[in-house]
Amino acid sequence: MSQLVQFTKDNDIGIVTINNPPVNALSPGVPEGISDAIDQIAKDDGVKAVVIIGAGRTFIGGADIKEFGKMTSGMTERGDGLLSLLLKIEDCPKPVVMAIQGVAYGGGLEVAMAGHYRVATRSAQVGQPEVKLGIIPGAAGSQRLPRLAGVAKAVEMCAEGNPVKAEEALKAGILDRLIEGDLLSGAIAFAREIASERAPKTRERNHKLGTLEQNTPIFAAARENASKKHRNMTAPLAAIDAVEAATTLPFEEGCQVERKLFTECLFSDQSKALIHVFFGEREVAKIPNIPKDTAVTPVNRAAVVGAGTMGGGIAMVLANAGIPVLLKDADQAALDRGLANVQKNYANSVKRGRFTQPFVDERLKLIKPTLSYDDFAHVDLVIEAVFEGMALKKEVFSDLDCICKPGAILASNTSTLNIDEIASVTSRPEAVLGTHFFSPANVMRLLEIVRGKATSKQIIATCMQLSKKLGKVGVLVGNCRGFVGNRMFHPYVRESVFLVEEGASVEAVDKVLYDFGMAMGPLATGDLAGLDVGWRIRKEYRHLEKPGIRQAFAGDRLCEMGRYGQKTGAGWYRYDENRRAIPDPEVAAMVRSWSAEIGIPQRQIPAEEIVDRCIYALVNEGARILEEGYALRAVDIDIIYLNGYGFPSYRGGPMWYADTVGLRKVHDRICEFQRQHGELWEPAPLLKRLAAEGRTFADLDKQKAAAA
Ligand code: 3HC
Ligand code: NAI
Repeated sequence: MSQLVQFTKDNDIGIVTINNPPVNALSPGVPEGISDAIDQIAKDDGVKAVVIIGAGRTFIGGADIKEFGKMTSGMTERGDGLLSLLLKIEDCPKPVVMAIQGVAYGGGLEVAMAGHYRVATRSAQVGQPEVKLGIIPGAAGSQRLPRLAGVAKAVEMCAEGNPVKAEEALKAGILDRLIEGDLLSGAIAFAREIASERAPKTRERNHKLGTLEQNTPIFAAARENASKKHRNMTAPLAAIDAVEAATTLPFEEGCQVERKLFTECLFSDQSKALIHVFFGEREVAKIPNIPKDTAVTPVNRAAVVGAGTMGGGIAMVLANAGIPVLLKDADQAALDRGLANVQKNYANSVKRGRFTQPFVDERLKLIKPTLSYDDFAHVDLVIEAVFEGMALKKEVFSDLDCICKPGAILASNTSTLNIDEIASVTSRPEAVLGTHFFSPANVMRLLEIVRGKATSKQIIATCMQLSKKLGKVGVLVGNCRGFVGNRMFHPYVRESVFLVEEGASVEAVDKVLYDFGMAMGPLATGDLAGLDVGWRIRKEYRHLEKPGIRQAFAGDRLCEMGRYGQKTGAGWYRYDENRRAIPDPEVAAMVRSWSAEIGIPQRQIPAEEIVDRCIYALVNEGARILEEGYALRAVDIDIIYLNGYGFPSYRGGPMWYADTVGLRKVHDRICEFQRQHGELWEPAPLLKRLAAEGRTFADLDKQKAAAA
């Protein structure tokens, strides 16, 4: 038998243990091992029933995702997936009890559903998360799940991909019993109870499949929801089609439909991109030269300085993770405003069903408003979020240096300022770094962790680990102006404004990029964030711009007129009392006349050019950042853009997208823009080199990983 699967006995109960750390994925060897065990059990008269369980902390985390890339590149055979193994389990003459702890996801739940019974710990979760990888269940999950849980629940689970907790799974009929105490002992006892009963085969349980009349509205609603919530994505719709097949076709034919859809999805660009994202989110946690076992500082108490938009949100993030937090502001009115915002945000979360009232009450108790630095001596971490200004930040850090205990982490939420300069006013620059949250801080998943030149490895390791506890994706970035995300965003927005100045309408630019998959168009995003923010930054840094280089001016002109975006009721758009954007012909007319004044020729701009100008501006700057070492890997840039800037996950991030287009093509197009628009479009040297060598950013990442 395979080393990855062990077969033992507890008197008359056979125990099959899957042991493939860390998550017992169904890697090569695991299905074969289970199959051998079933053969052995079928022949063994001493075995009356079987328990299948995972070693370690989980049941089965699903198919081995690493294998998918090998399949699509033709390196391995595809076979029938797990289908024949699951039939073998289901046809086993002895009742099979699946004992679930941790998670049974994807292929893991599919294995579980082929058993005759399923028991689980209270903390276990089950799910068909395949759509998050751009695929659908590939081993009859879409056919067995509706037979256990009913059509509505199966559609929801397969199309949304979200996990279901054990208690809910029990109610839905996916599980048969929850086990308190030791899972294996409970599962063995359960197996003895049912050993002499007729074992039910899931594939034959048709009573929950519903009628055409009952199912039609379920599928219609699911399709409508998937098209809205997962715009442009193919897998959720394919998952719905597969579950529908379970309701209209016999089991075997339903499996064939599922298999065909699964294969189509697996070979799609969307799936390749989403698998890149899955591994990328884990890769960013790995920092070369900072080993996994680097000692971290426990963060049991924290403080936030500045109770404004960001400070309030950051305090919520800490409190949500159970960390008591002092929230300090300079004056009572600002503190009251900040706290009222926190309370309002929590109340909205309760209204939307994200949190319960008791949970919120507990969180609010953890946030202690204050006007003084009293008690700061006891905190392990301070995050500063006062107004953006070097002098003020230095003043705050100099105070913190005097008050905070040795070893405390001093972090700044600055979006543009130099972390080393901030650190220079302290006696402990090794304890200083940037923690750049994104607005709204309690919602956005991205956290850029900015490494100063003196920041210690321990502090970085602590903040990377803390980001996971806070429910964020922490990405380590270098200390350059705008760090990684905002530095790239600048040329992206610049191009969107240039396009408007050259004759595209505001709505056309936004719509084309929205259709490309961005959560919002760049101009509408500017209105939401406040056009004045970028305007102030541009004014502060104008002296650093090279003379003679074209500057986008239309956004600045709008600000000069007091049009700051949503907060003033007008920016690129006008806003009604419900903050709905209304195209404003006045803006179009003004931009036309301003452009005429300085002689910018007007023309019709095709959609393809809008996408290429904006997205390749991101890619070109990303390539510079990568070469300069401010991002560790191309995938880090992708993860930043997916989690902080609304880049569509099914395109894998800007650098992955450029790889899929082909770097030579991207480079040639950039050269074309350089000929038309001048030196702002000079291709990044790294891009030029990779394009000439016929390579990709992903190759470069692999090469770096191999060298590390
Ligand atoms: N295949 C291969 N590797 C996997 C994996 C999988 N299914 N699931 C997790 N891993 C790897 C991760 O890449 C990571 O590797 P690393 O340490 O080298 O970075 C390691 O296992 C640990 O993973 P996490 O850091 O995510 O550990 P957590 O404890 O936080 O979470 C988990 C564990 C809940 C299992 C989470 O990893 C997860 O959700 N995994 C994916 C589950 C999934 O999508 N399953 C469906 C796969 S597709 C399928 O089954 C198709 C079928 O229908 C045929
Ligand atoms: P804000 O203006 O909403 O809040 C700043 C708060 O700091 C105010 O409540 C003010 O009273 C308080 N404050 C000023 N001086 C203080 C002092 N000496 N001690 C204590 N409190 C003081 O500003 P916002 O938007 O929250 O920004 C804060 C920081 O976060 C800035 O550095 C900004 O660049 C950064 N940032 C902002 C983002 C955004 O979208 N708003 C996104 C990411 C970072």
